[in-house]
Amino acid sequence: MTSTGRKHAEEHRSGPAGEVREIAVVGAGVMGSQIAMVCALAGYSTSLVDLSDELLDGARDALQSRMDRDVSRGRRARDDVDRAMERLRLSTDRATAVSECDFVIEAAAESLEVKRRIFEDLDRETPRRTILATNSSNIVSSQLADSTTRPDRVLNLHFFNPALVMECVEVVPHDGTAETVVDTSMELVRSLGKSGVRLRREIPGFVANRILGAIRREALELHDAGVADVEDIDRAARTALRHPMGPFELMDLVGIDVVHLIRLAEFEQTGDEGALPHPAVRRLYEAGHFGRKTGRGWYTYDDS
Ligand code: 3HC
Repeated sequence: MTSTGRKHAEEHRSGPAGEVREIAVVGAGVMGSQIAMVCALAGYSTSLVDLSDELLDGARDALQSRMDRDVSRGRRARDDVDRAMERLRLSTDRATAVSECDFVIEAAAESLEVKRRIFEDLDRETPRRTILATNSSNIVSSQLADSTTRPDRVLNLHFFNPALVMECVEVVPHDGTAETVVDTSMELVRSLGKSGVRLRREIPGFVANRILGAIRREALELHDAGVADVEDIDRAARTALRHPMGPFELMDLVGIDVVHLIRLAEFEQTGDEGALPHPAVRRLYEAGHFGRKTGRGWYTYDDS
């Protein structure tokens, strides 16, 4: 094996990271549930927490059919999936679920108020050693750290959609995050079989979403100006640039609601009117067309 090949293999080794044994994910939406599954598949005892059994049942069903599909296509072994499913506990009782865990990943609604309340509660409910991370890409952890008594153990750990597939995880400390906490988080990311991107300082959107935002803005402007249809702009991105999806398809995958709320959060943080959601995105949001999850966004999807 070449040194590059070896480095790659080391970076992607899977299995529990030193001091982290038990993980909890708060929020069983598409992101939270897939992040929890990634943790369980990597061997961690994992809790997935949300407010209602209905939400948790929906998450379990979606994960089970995703895993069954992977098994039937020969991508995963049935035994590995069954063991991971056993390691994954779903609960509405957050205080009990997080009481022994070493690492919490919050993936709840993209609202500063909601997240601050969750972090305040988690600070009371978890042992002092527990690292508290948010999956948010826009609400930076310095905005949450002071709602806890352990600002040095708070940071952003940002996964990409679909989290079961995408390799990148951005690890973003704020000024007061302890270096050891960043190191543990990078080690955790490696142990999940993911590739960690470590930021030197906080910036809303981090690295990947800022690059994506520039592409999305340009695509929306081209569409507004009547230069090309949605389908053709997407086709250009796929066939000329080899992007796996065009910018409009990607908005539908990520969720028009998520795209919209991320822009609003950025506006609230910066006061920059240029950060406000694009009018066409706002219209889809207000009409409840959130993309794949509602069956309609830029495109229309049938149930199958
Ligand atoms: N969940 C889990 N796994 C999925 C999936 C999903 N939603 N969609 C696809 N997959 C997996 C499945 O294993 C699937 O195989 P299967 O259909 O046989 O089960 C496999 O990927 C291939 O899928 P497809 O054949 O349907 O299509 P692609 O080959 O195009 O792959 C894709 C799908 C992986 C989603 C690929 O199109 C892609 O990489 N798209 C770009 C995704 C991207 O850019 N994500 C980042 C968004 S930004 C973000 O998340 C940041 C946040 O802050 C908003």
